[in-house]
Amino acid sequence: MRTKLRSLLKQQDIRKSSPKNIPATSIQINKQDALKFLSEIAASSADLIVSSPPYCIGKVYETSVSRSDFIDMHERLAPLLVRALKRGGSLCWQIGHHVSNGAVTPLDALVYAIFSRQPELVLRNRIIWTFAHGIHASKRFSGRHETVLWFTKGDEYSFNLDAVRVPQKYPGKRHYKGPRKGKLSGNPLGKNPSDVWDIPNVKANHVEKVDHPCQFPVALVQRLIRALAPKNGLVLDPFLGSGSSAVAAAIERRSFSGCDIHGAYVKMAKGRIAKIEQGAKHYRPIDQPIHVPSATDAVARLPTKFQRKREGLHDKAIRSKRQS
Ligand SMILES: C[S@@+](CC[C@H](N)C(=O)[O-])C[C@H]1O[C@@H](n2cnc3c(N)ncnc32)[C@H](O)[C@@H]1O
Repeated sequence: MRTKLRSLLKQQDIRKSSPKNIPATSIQINKQDALKFLSEIAASSADLIVSSPPYCIGKVYETSVSRSDFIDMHERLAPLLVRALKRGGSLCWQIGHHVSNGAVTPLDALVYAIFSRQPELVLRNRIIWTFAHGIHASKRFSGRHETVLWFTKGDEYSFNLDAVRVPQKYPGKRHYKGPRKGKLSGNPLGKNPSDVWDIPNVKANHVEKVDHPCQFPVALVQRLIRALAPKNGLVLDPFLGSGSSAVAAAIERRSFSGCDIHGAYVKMAKGRIAKIEQGAKHYRPIDQPIHVPSATDAVARLPTKFQRKREGLHDKAIRSKRQS
């Protein structure tokens, strides 16, 4: 009987001290304006700010489609972001392109011009986030990338490369000359993931898809958190949207504080966190390889109709070459 009781107590202790799925650290999500949120947060408190602001391109949650409003908002945000960051902390600003009447503005160029005027901010990487799906353009090349500008506050900063290494293509590669000739040349933990990240974007069939028009993938933020925020560090997102960054912080066991101006998105983000707390894995694992269809899959085979069309074009091209 006593043994039974002792083992029951032991089990309860374990449950109390290491809850399986509940975030170990605090996750705070509020309905608030980003500028107010940033001006109220304790100065020098954040290890990492990671966010994707409104692009002013007419999404349902945006009140402006004006480039000057975008610039004005970023001019007001810049000093507040620096104030909130710890010395040595990181600011990761995820942004895409503004397309109007076919004219493309790379929004990170505008952001860089503004953020780099803050004397304490130093740009460390312009990360290209590339993905396979999106609108097919007919008058320019289809857009398949956005960027993340990574700045640090000051010159001393932490960068945990080992936490984000990825498998090498040729792990068995060896030095072919010099004193280390014949020895393995790679890092046993994997290689630097580089500044080009191929991570599926969150479209209709994605496991993370909720009712928000502009989600970024959880894995994108997870990699930034692993590399740039210490264990138990604080992560902020002032434009939280559906809560992807909060989900990433919860999985990676960092504290988190974020806000969105729309109550419906705040509710959505809280719902996603509640699911994580219940142990649901409604996110794409960070190390899941990109799907490559097998050559035998029906959708991967070239339909005869397409083949004929291509051969027809090919014949036409040969004929016109002969005639010229
Ligand atoms: C690009 S989305 C962020 C999406 C988010 N990264 C995700 O994965 O769901 C920008 C968000 O900023 C919010 N927003 C717009 N203006 C805001 C403001 N002044 N303060 C706070 N949030 C704002 C919008 O409601 C929108 O959800």
